Amino acid sequence: MRLLLLAALVAALPFATARAQDAAPPAPIEILADAKAASGDVVDVDIQSMSFATPEVKIKAGQTVRWTNKEEGAAHNVHFRNGPAKTFAKARGPMLNLNEAYAVTFVQPGTYDYICTPHSAMMKGKVIVE
Ligand code: CO
Repeated sequence: MRLLLLAALVAALPFATARAQDAAPPAPIEILADAKAASGDVVDVDIQSMSFATPEVKIKAGQTVRWTNKEEGAAHNVHFRNGPAKTFAKARGPMLNLNEAYAVTFVQPGTYDYICTPHSAMMKGKVIVE
């Protein structure tokens, strides 16, 4: 009888393992479809003079950071290269033209270092999520 139970457990094991692999890991960040419409717990970071005006922000998990390009004549983006979003499929944000915005809700705590892809040497920032 005990042997039968053991056999049943061993038989079920591969299925349990397969199910665990099917479940996608939770996304560390969520990119808002409409950055300008973001409301509530939003921290704004302006982009101007080839820099992120508030290069370091500290927030709580669940809060949103919105970047707005206020610089005429230069497009910029937000590209997470270190931290929980490093391997996220959309870690590299789209280029923002003047007055365009990009908003991200941070789900997973951690330190998210980011750059502007074409100006990586001078445009750096970080979001610390507690
Ligand atoms: Co830039």
